[in-house]
Amino acid sequence: MVSQMYIVRTIDELRKLRRPLVGPVGLVPTMGYLHQGHLSLVRRAKEESSSVVVSIYVNHTQFGAGEDFVGYPRDLDRDLALLKKEGTDIVFVPSDDEMYPAGFDSWVEVEGLTRRLEGAFRPGHFRGVATVCAKLFNIVQPDRAYFGQKDAQQVLVLKRMVADLNMDLEIVVTPTVRESDGLAVSSRNTYLNAGERRAAVVLFGALSLARELRRDGEGDADTLRRRMTALIEKEPLAQIDYVSIADAATLEELERIDRPALASVAVRIGRARLIDNVLLE
Ligand code: PAJ
Repeated sequence: MVSQMYIVRTIDELRKLRRPLVGPVGLVPTMGYLHQGHLSLVRRAKEESSSVVVSIYVNHTQFGAGEDFVGYPRDLDRDLALLKKEGTDIVFVPSDDEMYPAGFDSWVEVEGLTRRLEGAFRPGHFRGVATVCAKLFNIVQPDRAYFGQKDAQQVLVLKRMVADLNMDLEIVVTPTVRESDGLAVSSRNTYLNAGERRAAVVLFGALSLARELRRDGEGDADTLRRRMTALIEKEPLAQIDYVSIADAATLEELERIDRPALASVAVRIGRARLIDNVLLE
């Protein structure tokens, strides 16, 4: 039997549908233009929940001036067809006026963690992410919310927010989905032309090198950063924003790799800014 999928545009309607739901409700927040990474979150949510809510909202408050908010890819009809196939129960597609009505003036700031990596290169980004996720959590009241390890810092920031503000839900993290050559699937990969697409594999190349060096016993973080940087610099289309070997919990840059570490990179290729990471156990 193909069950009904509700497409909801207002907070009132969403709350009306949410209230009578019994059993765990799973929420998958997205900005749409769905790909296999998003769908892996929906599948995991589906396995663990009685009802799955997916939100599609390109949240302008997490984009900086000069970033890709206007050009961000959108295709709602295709997204809805994909979500229906996955058995999604409710799709929440709010407008800007619904999420940020006139007079909106409250923000969630997670401090420490957001000064590093993406936060350093995208001032205000995590304030937008934390605020919109806090709003979605309040609106949907999920038992669990699902996020990808692809955005490792986002996960840490949201876990911090949930703990600090006593939000009554669990953040579930799922593995990064990759193309066959290792490139992490991303809506922003659509910005790449054929040559840039080939160059983009250099992110996974650098992360794989970090893993190999670590596996061979290398304990000096700077050696990893230098070898990864040299590898990326061999690719003429790639411009590095950062190459990081950091404490996997605090994101502080490490000297010695003496605890679980996150290897992460941000690289600009053409008009795409790509990020990726792997955990070094
Ligand atoms: P978006 O980039 O659409 O991503 C939605 C979710 O999909 C995030 O949790 C992200 O980590 C996950 N995801 C993206 N690519 C993935 C991949 N290759 N493998 C596994 N998961 C992947 O992240 C956002 O939107 C926004 O910041 C949001 C949380 C929706 C707040 O606006």
